[in-house]
Amino acid sequence: MATREALWNYRNEFGDAFGRTYFRRFGPGVVSSIGLGTYLGDATAAVDDAYRESIALALRSGINHVDTAINYRAGRAERVVGEAIRDSPIDREAIVVATKGGFLPFEGERPAEPSAYVRDRFLANGIVDAADLANGAHAIAPDYLEWSLDRSLDRLGLDGVDCFYVHNPETQLAVRSREAVYDQLEAAFEMLERRRVAGDVGSYGVATWTAFRVAADDDAFLSLAEVLARAEAAGEAVGPDDDHGFETIQLPFNVAMADAFTRANQRPIDGASDTPVADADDGDDEPVSALEFAHEAGLSVVTSASIGQGALAVAGAIPTDIDATLAGETPAQRALNFARSAPGVTSSLVGASDPAHVRENVAAGTFDPLGASAFDAIFE
Ligand SMILES: NC(=O)c1ccc[n+]([C@@H]2O[C@H](COP(=O)([O-])OP(=O)(O)OC[C@H]3O[C@@H](n4cnc5c(N)ncnc54)[C@H](OP(=O)(O)O)[C@@H]3O)[C@@H](O)[C@H]2O)c1
Repeated sequence: MATREALWNYRNEFGDAFGRTYFRRFGPGVVSSIGLGTYLGDATAAVDDAYRESIALALRSGINHVDTAINYRAGRAERVVGEAIRDSPIDREAIVVATKGGFLPFEGERPAEPSAYVRDRFLANGIVDAADLANGAHAIAPDYLEWSLDRSLDRLGLDGVDCFYVHNPETQLAVRSREAVYDQLEAAFEMLERRRVAGDVGSYGVATWTAFRVAADDDAFLSLAEVLARAEAAGEAVGPDDDHGFETIQLPFNVAMADAFTRANQRPIDGASDTPVADADDGDDEPVSALEFAHEAGLSVVTSASIGQGALAVAGAIPTDIDATLAGETPAQRALNFARSAPGVTSSLVGASDPAHVRENVAAGTFDPLGASAFDAIFE
């Protein structure tokens, strides 16, 4: 697990090469505001090799945040992340390793018939109850997530992960009510609180795609205030004190998907009424954006798809007026610097299996991010 001392030592070793606020407070210490993602790419040995090299290079160059998930690249991503970390000269305790559970994983390759695979591997063996499945491939019931966490530790070959995310919990809204999803999350958080006390996870969070940034009356919406309240309840229920380990939310954020900053859709942390809040006449209940809520609540925010899954790395993709405000030599660097300039963002993930992309993305961190008022001015 990452420790305060090792994280600060990493920052002291690499920090001078980077711009202002490159390392930011996270967990027990600090983390690089550029993180390496491992989502995209085929489930092949060639892509494994490329990622192995990319992760090794990133860790040696000033990126000490690696993000993965049990289902990425048919389950191969976690194995590669673990190998690269174990082979790295960088101290494991200086690296923030995050993984996710929720989507049912394959074992290294996509089976010819995924639904038959789910039936034989998960349902027949009692790993997942059919009633907990959404879209035939997703579950967040606590027993399943605990199985998933144990498989992740096994695949990574690590004693613990620094952040375990419940992956896209909004997927469950396809098959159950919002209240039932909050109940499932609370039960999952209780399991994660127990594993935190046991030392297997440093902290936990939720990684989302739509939940926190869509309008409050959207079918895929989840309330951050309610999710946080469920974590507080889980922390109290499990003990040993009334603290909790819900520390991080992950959501997509980039120049073309900035709604976590621009859309005021969340009930404020001390707001009385639940969603929708837009027509509340009490000033205290004015809705806030997901980023503002996280800031007020002291939650870390990690952005995904920070360069639009590659689309923003192309010349001309960033609107010209915004592009002119951003620091960086290449479009990818400027896109990344937009994401990590947003107020409240701790770290922006960028997936890169190509080591040349890692070099380019690391160099984005040598530029200063925009200050809060310059970032605000983009949207005025
Ligand atoms: N719901 C969720 O929980 C969720 C959803 C999406 C993503 N994530 C996490 O967030 C991470 C980042 O998101 P993402 O990977 O989807 O999208 P992304 O980081 O916006 O883009 C990754 C893509 O951009 C390419 N790329 C990277 N650097 C580049 C550069 N300098 N120039 C040109 N192209 C470049 C990569 O190509 P190469 O591979 O060829 O280098 C890859 O195809 C993921 O890897 C994953 O860890 C989480």
